[in-house]
Amino acid sequence: MSLYDDIEKVLIPEDVLQRRIAEIGAEMNGLYSDADYPMLVCILKGAFMFLADLTRQLAFRHEIDFMEISSYGGGTSSSGVVRILLDLASTIEGRHVVIVEDIVDSGHTLTYILRHFAARRPASIRVATLLNKPSRREVDVPLDFVGFEVPNEFVMGYGLDYAEQYRNVPFIGVLKAAVYQTAGDTSVPH
Ligand code: PRP
Repeated sequence: MSLYDDIEKVLIPEDVLQRRIAEIGAEMNGLYSDADYPMLVCILKGAFMFLADLTRQLAFRHEIDFMEISSYGGGTSSSGVVRILLDLASTIEGRHVVIVEDIVDSGHTLTYILRHFAARRPASIRVATLLNKPSRREVDVPLDFVGFEVPNEFVMGYGLDYAEQYRNVPFIGVLKAAVYQTAGDTSVPH
């Protein structure tokens, strides 16, 4: 029994992901220069793989930092009440910041992060998200770089988990319903 047996289908294959990430990197290379010296902030845990591939496409000097956010309220969809598990190690005041997310769903997590960051007075803030699920949006959020729009399906892989598993899968896939129904989970996360 392999973890791949739990996957219904491949939604975005590895090569398609990598080509799009290269395009986003090229777009960023046109917008930022060494002088900007931006800070890429990876929102853990889901964005770790996107960050790792994106940063290797960038030709300007930049730093990376990490932040981990958890949503309260249980279940698998974001409640809008979030809490910081790991804060930035560096200061962002006066810095150009790029928030790197794996997916924007309801928009609550990003809204919280943007508000939190704005209070720290960065020079600018842009948002890069690999996936966007607009059908689930509850609050409007500005997105500057979007990899792919995805339907309201249970996407996993390439950093995105179900019950903390499947993050290592190198493509974006859709989980078999039986996997989360067996676990008694009736919501549609991610
Ligand atoms: C996911 C994702 C975003 C958030 C998006 O994180 O990485 O941060 O949910 O949902 P929202 O737009 O509805 O707020 P998750 O809480 O699954 O944590 P993880 O990245 O550690 O898996």
